[in-house]
Amino acid sequence: MTGSRSYYVTTPIYYVNDRPHIGHAYTTLACDVLARFKRLDGYRVMFLTGTDEHGQKVEKSAHAKGIDPQVFTDEVSQNFRDLASVMKYSHDDFIRTTEPRHKAACAALWKRLVDRGDIYAGKYAGWYAVRDEAFYAESELQTAPDGTRIAPTGAPVEWVEEPSYFFRLSAWQDKLLRFYDEHPDFIAPESRRNEVISFVQGGLQDLSVSRTTFRWGVPVPGDSEHIMYVWLDALTNYLTATGYPDTGHERYKAFWPADLHMVGKDILRFHAVYWPAFLMAADLPLPKRVFAHGWWTNEGQKISKSLGNVIDPYELVGTFGLDQTRYFLLREVPFGNDGVFSRQAFVRRMNTELANDLGNLVQRTLSMIAKNCSGKVPEVGVLEDSDRHMLDSAYSLLDVLREQLDRQAFHEALESIWVVVRAANAYVDHQAPWSLRKTDPKRMETVLWVLAESIRQVALLMQAFVPDGAGRILDQLGLGQEQRGFDTFGPRFALVTGSDLPAPQGIFPRYAEEEVVRS
Ligand code: MSP
Repeated sequence: MTGSRSYYVTTPIYYVNDRPHIGHAYTTLACDVLARFKRLDGYRVMFLTGTDEHGQKVEKSAHAKGIDPQVFTDEVSQNFRDLASVMKYSHDDFIRTTEPRHKAACAALWKRLVDRGDIYAGKYAGWYAVRDEAFYAESELQTAPDGTRIAPTGAPVEWVEEPSYFFRLSAWQDKLLRFYDEHPDFIAPESRRNEVISFVQGGLQDLSVSRTTFRWGVPVPGDSEHIMYVWLDALTNYLTATGYPDTGHERYKAFWPADLHMVGKDILRFHAVYWPAFLMAADLPLPKRVFAHGWWTNEGQKISKSLGNVIDPYELVGTFGLDQTRYFLLREVPFGNDGVFSRQAFVRRMNTELANDLGNLVQRTLSMIAKNCSGKVPEVGVLEDSDRHMLDSAYSLLDVLREQLDRQAFHEALESIWVVVRAANAYVDHQAPWSLRKTDPKRMETVLWVLAESIRQVALLMQAFVPDGAGRILDQLGLGQEQRGFDTFGPRFALVTGSDLPAPQGIFPRYAEEEVVRS
């Protein structure tokens, strides 16, 4: 569906040295839900994800394996594309920073910054953490139990002294503060916004934006001894995908500036301080919003390869199902907060909410219709207050979700849907259509129609979160692909009495934990 409104949402691009884990799956999932929702709502959407393939960290990993970095990145970048297809992400483009289009965009942005006087040559002497690909000031460092100096993230740091180009970040401090002030929604959540503002108020130093001690990256135009700082290279990906430096490109005109950069809290500073400063310096429009989500821990423990507690998204999908995984990740934790991954909580959510609350509601309603209304959409009689109340609450959901998803409040959106799902369960229990079958079959038909019509609204919205299950519900309501956009939401496109419905089938299976054998 194309419309005049456009929406551009991006994920961070992932370092290829890691195997994709739950944290990576989470960031992209959140963007996927937004992209799907906006498409259903008639927007022209561009959803971008990809891989960050340059820098010292990737070079080191390739060398450790004894292979050429290009061969290495070709191989490992595929893991992220595989994850995207397993999770059914609906991205429109997958960018790799080793692509020629990206190197061209980096070179163009660099030249522009040089032309505008924001890049100058100097010498860097300071701390660098390869794991974070970040420079740290002495004052930010901590001492590890073994006496070594570490970054606030826990990453080891090394002392670096080399010729370097600098970006005049200090010159942008006041302009950044003014921008945050004039655009209160630019950084979310609020607590993170305050952190960024106090960081910038604390004073900004010029940023080293090139390195000379390794080769794996984009060469600095006109001085190929230097490799561009991997974060300047990486951040530029958001522009590359729009066709930049061709600012006349159709994609650039339709989609830049981005509506939303979704990031984890660990990389907010790069997106909310450095990136807007680069763009201001280049006199390019700034993205509208950066949202920093929290981190998952495994049953309360930091997820790390060395602890061997990495949560594998493939395993989750294989064991519990894709919809179940997508649902749990966005439902369990208020988006923005850190979250504890617990298997028990996962099984509880999928069984009580997806299988019982929603799955059973659909199953009960549709099997009663199949048995008692000859498998056709039932007839609607005179609506009583309780019916109107049920329908009104379902019909009001779209506006509520629009507002919540524009704030990236996924958990609130799912809760709003569940208020209606629970109301529908209470309605069916109270109306007891199974008894009406004998006493008042006409009334039974009305009740079943109200339920089916409420379920239609829920399923339309749930397509963004659980595309497979929601699609199956819509199939069972006899709705074709052209009857699934949000333009069909609400009473104008209500289910038509007498339409044939296919035989009902289960939607969301329960997960039965293996019986624990007690001795
Ligand atoms: N390459 C940079 C991003 C460049 S964007 C111009 C990078 N890559 S990353 O692969 O290390 O991380 C990508 C994302 O995964 C980050 O947003 C990070 O917050 C997220 N997560 C990694 N581990 C996570 C959890 N345990 N929980 C939630 N998200 C986490 O940084």
